[in-house]
Amino acid sequence: MLTNVAQLHPDKPILNVLRGHAVDPSPVWLMRQAGRYLPEYRELRSKAPDFLNLCLTPSLASEITLQPIRRFNFDAAILFADILVIPHALGQKVWFAEGEGPRLDPVTPESIAQLKPDHIRSLLSPILETIDRVKSDLPKTTALIGFAGAPWTVATYMIAGRGSDDSAAARLFAYREPQAFAALLNLLIESTADYLIAQIDAGAEVLQIFESWAGTIPSDGLEQYSLSPIRQIVERIHHHAPATPVIVFPRGAGASYVRYARETGAAAISLDAHTPLSLAAQAFPTATAVQGNLDPLALIAGGDALRLAVEQIKTQTHARPHIFNLGHGVRQETPVAHVAQLLALLRGRTA
Ligand code: CP3
Repeated sequence: MLTNVAQLHPDKPILNVLRGHAVDPSPVWLMRQAGRYLPEYRELRSKAPDFLNLCLTPSLASEITLQPIRRFNFDAAILFADILVIPHALGQKVWFAEGEGPRLDPVTPESIAQLKPDHIRSLLSPILETIDRVKSDLPKTTALIGFAGAPWTVATYMIAGRGSDDSAAARLFAYREPQAFAALLNLLIESTADYLIAQIDAGAEVLQIFESWAGTIPSDGLEQYSLSPIRQIVERIHHHAPATPVIVFPRGAGASYVRYARETGAAAISLDAHTPLSLAAQAFPTATAVQGNLDPLALIAGGDALRLAVEQIKTQTHARPHIFNLGHGVRQETPVAHVAQLLALLRGRTA
């Protein structure tokens, strides 16, 4: 689809991929590229023990956003923040227990009625300031990605009060309290759309919606819990900013991946490592870009295993609009040298 050259962005290859053009080599960024595998992140984190506070301190959050760009010159920076800043801004208590992950005071039907979307922009204004700061320091070839969690994924944490592999608490809540569940989804649709639009106004050029727990949704619930909320958010974003591309990451969606590609308005779909890239070639709309899907464990392994895995992704995405990424986030135990090896493999230098 390299026909309309006038539409090409002169400097940022990732924006061209998101407009449906194949770019060689594929632009690259990694989910969780700013995080604990980086010694400079760990150093800064040790001085800022409250994780949520770190996300809401523009001087530190902008520095962390830029750390992986300085080291690896990725094609995109992703805002350093978290999907759980939305429940925090709605008035739910959120904290990060050291070594245990996120904790929240679980919502009830009564407490859902008390949550307030009115102050999303003002409560999250430090994050918007982070975007502004990062934008002024980014190389001109690097795009800035803003993000939020999809309503279902955020709701799973709000309802259970913590992460869980099967989202059992949220699924039960949806069956037992259908009205409160629908009200919660609507509140999250509204506040997430407001927040993402505010990120665009602050300077985000691309948005990613993380549906990290798509794999736990019962098939009867897919439209109500996930496809419709994401579609409504994307519609609101495009009403405000028609040219801003949205990447949707429905991790674990399996056979439903195709519906996310066809029915949400996403410019790109991020594949987890379990989903074959051939599915995208066969069943996604031709202009829909695909992102992914290196196994994060291949990055930990490095060496020949990494070389082989990268070659296979290159072969399968050749001449298609593709953004190189992992199938999920960079894990803490990933050697920094293997990330350097990955970039060398992609950009054609030896490592
Ligand atoms: O990708 C990036 O580099 C940008 C920053 C980012 C973070 N979280 C920073 C973070 C992004 C995009 C997220 C998204 C996020 N947060 C998701 C969706 C993506 C996914 O992983 O599926 C989810 C489910 C969350 C909620 C969350 N935040 C969990 C479950 C945890 C604990 C897990 C862990 O790795 O400790 C967090 C904490 C968190 N968010 C960390 C970082 C760098 C680690 C915090 C620390 O330094 O201790």
